[in-house]
Order: sequence, then structure tokens, then C-alpha cells
Amino acid sequence: MKDFKNQVMFITGAAHGFGKVIAEEGAQRGMRLALIDIDEPALQATYKDVTDAGAEAIMIAADVTKEDAVDAAVDQTMTKFGQINLLINNAGIALPGRMWELPTRDWEWIMHINVMSQVYAMKRIIPIMLKQKTRSDILNVASIAGLVDTPGMPSYHASKFAAVGMTEATAYDLQRIDANIDMHVMCPGFVQTDLYHTENHRPAQYSDPTDPYYQSEAYLKGQQFAKYVITNGKPIDSIADTVFKALEDNRFYILTHPEFNPLISDRVNRIVNDGAPDVHVMDGIM
Ligand SMILES: NC(=O)c1ccc[n+]([C@@H]2O[C@H](COP(=O)([O-])OP(=O)(O)OC[C@H]3O[C@@H](n4cnc5c(N)ncnc54)[C@H](O)[C@@H]3O)[C@@H](O)[C@H]2O)c1
Repeated sequence: MKDFKNQVMFITGAAHGFGKVIAEEGAQRGMRLALIDIDEPALQATYKDVTDAGAEAIMIAADVTKEDAVDAAVDQTMTKFGQINLLINNAGIALPGRMWELPTRDWEWIMHINVMSQVYAMKRIIPIMLKQKTRSDILNVASIAGLVDTPGMPSYHASKFAAVGMTEATAYDLQRIDANIDMHVMCPGFVQTDLYHTENHRPAQYSDPTDPYYQSEAYLKGQQFAKYVITNGKPIDSIADTVFKALEDNRFYILTHPEFNPLISDRVNRIVNDGAPDVHVMDGIM
């Protein structure tokens, strides 16, 4: 079984939700932590929690949609700890909104945080891990929305399908070179976090308050939908434990909501049996 004591975790989105509880669980297991998030005041609270629990940590306030910010965070972590053993690409946002209504800047924002931030971190950290003698792990947080599709949030599905696909493809490439890195992709259903507060983390470069879309009924309905599904999700309590058990058991797909498994099978059956998306299948689900 893997032992994470004294190993270094590099985790994005550590200020709230999954990132916060996973960082705290890492501290309990004796890990050293590099905590990255755009929300500095909330990140300070996570930093205090983990250091109060006895962990050695650094906190790095950074916007991970920017490659140079991710590079600088990796450099700071290497200067402090000299190694990275567990990369958790977790920072993310959710943007409801139909294809023909969601502004292009919102598409760019979600793809940069949910996909490109994971790319930036892996591009820098995989070569570091390959040089290390010990085994390492990379966990990309995707979503059940990366395995099945639903109405109302095509940008979220696009980003999460991308995260699943690039994690699978990277796993093949690492296996081909017999690398000492285990890949994992987490695909949770709805969990009670701060995910419906996505607007609080909108970087200036993706902001245009004068765009009437942000006053439209479509936008407000999307916000209500996100709040409804997240606040009615599962409690977060068991998530960090599930993550570490999956890392220990070296599971690739980390699923947290077995009730959605039939939807995954339905999608695959639909594809191989020449089916097509049928919104009526979603009646009573979404
Ligand atoms: N909560 C759910 O139901 C659910 C389900 C499936 C997948 N997920 C995924 O889990 C991950 C974590 O989300 P969560 O539910 O804990 O939400 P959350 O909002 O509680 O946490 C997301 C964190 O990412 C940070 N962040 C946002 N933009 C950032 C940026 N540009 N740079 C750096 N940090 C940034 C936020 O400050 C926040 O701390 C996301 O990738 C999300 O898509 C969540």
C-alpha cells in the first residue's frame, strides 16, 4: 500500500470544497503541501488548518488559467520541498449556459481553468516526477460530466470530457515508457461545495460586466440551476477518504456516485448501437 508520509502534494483549488478537504486529509497523513488557489483569504484558512494539524506547507495565491503562474508555483514548490510526489489538478469552475447563449469569453475561461490549468501543471510536473526515484501520482479532477452528457451546460461537459480524455491518453504514454507515475481521474456526481459561487473566482481577463448576457434570464436561470444541483448534492464528508483509498488501491477511475453508473453504460450502448442523445432519458434526472 502507498504511504504518503513526508511526500509532497501540489494541489490547485485548495481554498474551498474538494481541494480543501483533500489538503486537510493529506496533512493528517503527514504530507507536505503546496496549496494553490486564486482566493487568497480562503487559501489562508486552509493553510492555517493544515499547519495547525502539524503539516509543513506553502500557500501560493495564483490564477492557474495562466501558464506562467502555474510555472512559478511549481518553481516555488521545488525550491521549498525539492520534490513533488502527488499532483492534484482540482481547481475548476462550472458555467451553465446553452451553446448559443454562453459568451465566448466564458468558453475560454472554463477551458483555461478546467483543461489548460491541468495541462500546464502536468507539462511541468511530469518531467520532475520522471526524474525522481520514487513512485508518483497524478489525479486530475474531472466529473461524471466527463463521462455522460446532460442538457444545460455544454461548456462544462466539453471541459470535463477533455480532462478525462487527456488523462487516459497520458496514462497510455506513461505506460509506454514504463514511467514511475500512476494516473487517476476523479469523476464525481454532485457534492455540496462552493462550486455554485464560480462567479466569485472570475479573473479580470474573462470579465465584461457590460455584456447584457449577465443580466439575462438565461444567465440567472443557469445560476439557480447550479445552486440547486450543488446544494442538493452529497455531503462532502467522505470525499477525501475516498480519494486517498483510491490512490492507495491505485484505481484509475474514481467514481463517487454509483447511482450514475447506468448513465455511463447507457451512453456507451447508445454509441455502439447507433443511437443518439435523447433528452427524454433525462426526465426526472436533470
Ligand atoms: N461539487 C461538485 O458537485 C463537483 C462534481 C464533479 C466535479 N467537480 C469538480 O471538482 C473540482 C473542485 O470543485 P469544488 O466542487 O470543490 O468547487 P469549489 O468552488 O468549492 O472549489 C474550486 C476551487 O477552485 C478555485 N479556483 C477557481 N478558479 C481558479 C483559478 N483561476 N485559479 C486558481 N484557483 C481557482 C476556487 O477558488 C476554489 O477554491 C472542480 O474541478 C469541479 O469541476 C465538482
